[in-house]
Amino acid sequence: MKFSHILAASLPLAVSAGPITKALAARQDVDCSPSSSTGLKSECWVSLDMNTYITEWVAANGTDANCEALGFAQCFLQFNGFTGLTCNLITSDTCTPFQTDSPEKYYSNQQFYALWNIYTIYQFFNQYSQALSNGASLAGQTIDSIIAEVAPPVESPTSTSTLMKVLGSTLNVVSMFTGFIPGASGTAVGFIRAGLSSAFDLSGKLGQTLGVTQTADDRFIQLGEIGASLAGFVEDYQTNLLNTVQEIQGNHTLFLAAASQGGFSQRVTTSLTIQSSELFKQLQLFVLSSALKANGIVSTRSTGVKVLDFAKETSEISCEAFSAGGNCNQWWYDEAAGSTYALHNPDDTENTHVDLTFAIYDNGWATLDQIFKIEDCAGKEPEFDSATLGITCMATHGWCEWNYTDSPRADPQFTNCDNDGSWGTLCGSFQNGIKVPESYLGPLLLIDGGTCKKL
Ligand SMILES: *[C@@H]1O[C@H](CO)[C@@H](O)[C@H](O)[C@H]1NC(C)=O
Ligand SMILES: *[C@@H]1O[C@H](CO)[C@@H](O)[C@H](O)[C@H]1NC(C)=O
Ligand SMILES: *[C@@H]1O[C@H](CO)[C@@H](O)[C@H](O)[C@H]1NC(C)=O
Repeated sequence: MKFSHILAASLPLAVSAGPITKALAARQDVDCSPSSSTGLKSECWVSLDMNTYITEWVAANGTDANCEALGFAQCFLQFNGFTGLTCNLITSDTCTPFQTDSPEKYYSNQQFYALWNIYTIYQFFNQYSQALSNGASLAGQTIDSIIAEVAPPVESPTSTSTLMKVLGSTLNVVSMFTGFIPGASGTAVGFIRAGLSSAFDLSGKLGQTLGVTQTADDRFIQLGEIGASLAGFVEDYQTNLLNTVQEIQGNHTLFLAAASQGGFSQRVTTSLTIQSSELFKQLQLFVLSSALKANGIVSTRSTGVKVLDFAKETSEISCEAFSAGGNCNQWWYDEAAGSTYALHNPDDTENTHVDLTFAIYDNGWATLDQIFKIEDCAGKEPEFDSATLGITCMATHGWCEWNYTDSPRADPQFTNCDNDGSWGTLCGSFQNGIKVPESYLGPLLLIDGGTCKKL
């Protein structure tokens, strides 16, 4: 077969031409035998033109192999004599690695790499599912401490289908933390992610499968109950995962997409410890943001105000240096944009939220930019995004931009939100100054007697 044919056959599933070109160049010198002294390699997927091999195999042998009933992975295994293996069920423990030291067991390198990818896709999801189980109890405790600190009202419902979607964010995390093989370049990381992403892109159903609730109807759960119920939710999510993997292993088109970048053609090593601490970070952010929202707390932006400089001009606020989280007291400074943010509760303007701001960063619940820079997501719902395998808009609490004027009766208070109920209240009967919230960082602070923070 000519190279041009190979290239044409591989193109529809390739996300970018990069790896193909690289592999074509490398075709001559890549050793893709199972026992290669340089190990298993991602470029072998393209180099062996696995796309054509599997497509032709299914066309020639699919009927005899009973692929329609068994699904691609299981029909391929059985037809090739590996009848005892179950690789489409992530709960199974009978999908073992294929031997690489006895190349004579395989009729071709292509057959070996097809088997190997079936195994690594199983293994990746199997370990992912285990990591979820391992991390669920600790994550539940963390969520309980977030709720204890933010203390949302007892009646703060969130929907279970949203929670399922949020758990889908763990797929992104696990695909980033997979493939960091000590000593190796870690290129598998990007390839696994890109491969899965194109499979999810091809079949919108995969993303939906991940996010469904196991009961027919969407339910509501109180924020305060999520921590204690997390293990149960994780089990539901693992069932979704199981169905998703069955879909990928069962349909050779999706299998080819997932494997297309070669991410599963290497030895795939997942670090279960890294994952356990990182996996549920997004869920923490979601719960934190939901709890802020339930309390009416919003992120406010003082556009263009550099808090460190501003503090030198007035004794009304204090900010001498930033701590590790990038904040001083309640102020978080966005260095790139040159704006300062602070949490704000329209019904409780005397609260600085200093303790909460430190707690968020110090406990590793979220980074402060995730809590403050939410301009694009305020008021939206988290959604699965197949391009990043992640969830867009995990933090959706409110966001308001201060409208600063020199006039004591500055109105409106924000450019995009209603005034606080107390906005415009005079500091006293014979005073011109107005009472300002702790999140205020505007020009009135520079005027003598322009403001007070308490009456
Ligand atoms: C069909 O299966 C047979 C037996 O394993 C194999 O020798 C042959 O190469 C397969 N056909 C294709 C087109 O892969
Ligand atoms: C496999 O998945 C593709 C993409 O979602 C779909 O078009 C095709 O119908 C599926 N094939 C089978 C046999 O279900
Ligand atoms: C900001 O306040 C001034 C006067 O107080 C007002 O004229 C202006 O329209 C406000 N800006 C926005 C964007 O609301």
